[in-house]
Formats: sequence, structure tokens, C-alpha cells
Amino acid sequence: MSKLKILIDEKTLLEKIDKIANEINKDYQSDRDLVVICVLKGAVYFFTDLTKRIKKDTILEFMKISSYVGTESSGEISIKTDLSLDIENKDVLIVEDILDTGLTLVKLKEYLKTKNPNSIKIAVLLDKKARRTENIVPEYACFEIEDKFVVGYGLDYDEKYRNLPYVGYLE
Ligand code: IMP
Ligand code: MG
Repeated sequence: MSKLKILIDEKTLLEKIDKIANEINKDYQSDRDLVVICVLKGAVYFFTDLTKRIKKDTILEFMKISSYVGTESSGEISIKTDLSLDIENKDVLIVEDILDTGLTLVKLKEYLKTKNPNSIKIAVLLDKKARRTENIVPEYACFEIEDKFVVGYGLDYDEKYRNLPYVGYLE
């Protein structure tokens, strides 16, 4: 039986999210609309804890994306739930659980660019830098982690463990 170990506890998560939210508050002070996109399902808790700390009035959006990762990976994503509003000339902040190879976010960013927003930035809870194959750097990253498969605080293993209040790993 594999054992679940805590990697980042709830208090540490929230303290860091508070800091990242402060940076975001400093960076977005214009009158332009800010659209924050939650990449479902993994980013759900990070998104809720982060957006509650954004001082500016913010539009909350949700997208569901699946990436085809396999031996013959086409490197394409498929959009299961699309935007519900126009993002043209708006500032867009993508909120994602984890940056792994980077493929999902590269493709999502390409797609969103075609909608002509004023800007697109990325906030990730976890950054597994060692696994990166794409050229992508998040503007906001809470924690850099080593190459471990993590679960909890939204992240799953086969749809399990998402509702744990901390980030853990299976040993
Ligand atoms: P990427 O396209 O390779 O960057 O993959 C990003 C997606 O893979 C994330 O949105 C997660 O859904 C999933 N993923 C990558 N690493 C982990 C992990 O350690 N635990 C759970 N999901 C992961
Ligand atoms: Mg995900």
C-alpha cells in the first residue's frame, strides 16, 4: 500500500497564495477588465483562494481542457468547456494547478491569443521545472517542486484525492 505524505500543508499554501495575490494586486491596477480563468478541475481550490484575495473587481471564468498525452502525442489540447464571454481587450490571468511539460499552457495561451485580449499572464500553484519541454515561464508561481507526482488541493490521481486540503505525494 502506498502511503500519502504531506508535501505542502494548508497554512503554507495559504501564506504563499496571499503573497502571490499581493503581487497580482500591484500588477493589475488599470481600469481594464480582468478575467481570471480557472483551468478545471485541478486549479479549483487555488483559483478560489487566489481570487478571493484579488482586490480589483474580477470576472471569473472556467475552462475545461484535456490534453492528449500518449506515445503518439499530437501535442494538441481539446477544449471541453470554452469561454463564456468575450475577452477582447481585457487582461487575462490563467490559473492552473501545475506546470509540468508546459504543453497544456502553451496551447491554451495560443488559443486565447486568437481572441485578442490585451494581455495574458499565467499563475500556477506548482511548478515542476525539471519536466519542462516547452518554452514557457509563468508570471506567478507559488511553489517549485521536484519531479514527484503530487495530489490534493485540487490535484488528482485518477480523480482521487482532489479534496485534500494540502498537497501530498504517494510513497
Ligand atoms: P503539462 O501540459 O505537461 O504541463 O501538464 C499539466 C497537467 O498535467 C496539469 O494540469 C495536471 O492536470 C497534470 N499533472 C501534471 N503533473 C501532475 C501531478 O504531479 N499530479 C497531478 N496532476 C499532474
Ligand atoms: Mg490540470
